Amino acid sequence: MNDLMQRYMDRTEEYLARCFTNDVPQKKLFEAMRYSLLAGGKRLRPVMVLAFCELCGGNAENALPFAAALEMVHTYSLIHDDLPCMDNDDYRRGKLTNHRVFGEATAVLAGDGLLTAAFGQLASAKLPAERIVEAVRVLSLCAGEMGMVGGQVLDMDAETRICTEQEVIDIQSRKTGALISAACQLGVIAAGGSSKQQTAAAQYADSLGLAFQIQDDILDVIGDAGKLGKATGVDKNKNTFVRLYGVETCKEMVARETEKAVHALDSFDNADFLIGLARELVHREF
Ligand code: IPE
Ligand code: IPE
Ligand code: MG
Ligand code: MG
Ligand code: MG
Repeated sequence: MNDLMQRYMDRTEEYLARCFTNDVPQKKLFEAMRYSLLAGGKRLRPVMVLAFCELCGGNAENALPFAAALEMVHTYSLIHDDLPCMDNDDYRRGKLTNHRVFGEATAVLAGDGLLTAAFGQLASAKLPAERIVEAVRVLSLCAGEMGMVGGQVLDMDAETRICTEQEVIDIQSRKTGALISAACQLGVIAAGGSSKQQTAAAQYADSLGLAFQIQDDILDVIGDAGKLGKATGVDKNKNTFVRLYGVETCKEMVARETEKAVHALDSFDNADFLIGLARELVHREF
């Protein structure tokens, strides 16, 4: 498990480190993009791309551009999420947030650059054209107005009132769940897996994504800012599961959703890595 995790993470880091290194007049933008992209982070989404690709019999090397695309979209979402007009955060991945270093305008544009480059990455993959088209369809659906961006709007709109459980699920499944779903599905797509496998990957992602955001909300209350690399206590006024049910019930929810994720992989022969990954995330401290 750990060796495989290390291999997926190393390949992701090596690939990302080669991006945006051109000597161009707009190098300030490139610097801002690389600042956040290479600031660390768990690389959970690229790992999922590569793991689902290998699970479905594909070659992970060929899926690296898909994995990089996911991390670029995720990083852009974090840069924008931290802006003063959104969550107004000063720290991310253990460093000052992008806008605190480069200014708001450049941070907005660094996010725009990463989002746009992500689709260029998909197009550059050495894979059959129909797989690339499907990857573009899924990533755009999950990242855009139906997915992450839609969820961020619901998240902000809900700040001034108390939401029902269904509303909180509607928010989280879009703002966090959708990109995790894209990651799992893109792995299957890169491998040329079946639509049944893609559906199972999406089901795994739905439960894991829910567990992941509940854990994020728990860590906002009981986590250690040093370990997390971001401030805690910042989501007090947000509609989190923790606000609805408290930390203890939320821990039970994380465990329950994780086991649902594990069951979604029942039809795969050797899903040990992805099962182990889901179960490890229950205990994550960052
Ligand atoms: C943080 O995502 C934002 C959420 C969607 C909860 P991660 O916890 O995956 O952040 P990094 O990539 O490790 O920094
Ligand atoms: C983040 O949710 C979701 C996206 C960035 C799309 P949060 O606002 O809870 O994430 P953190 O806690 O700042 O990482
Ligand atoms: Mg937010
Ligand atoms: Mg935030
Ligand atoms: Mg949070």
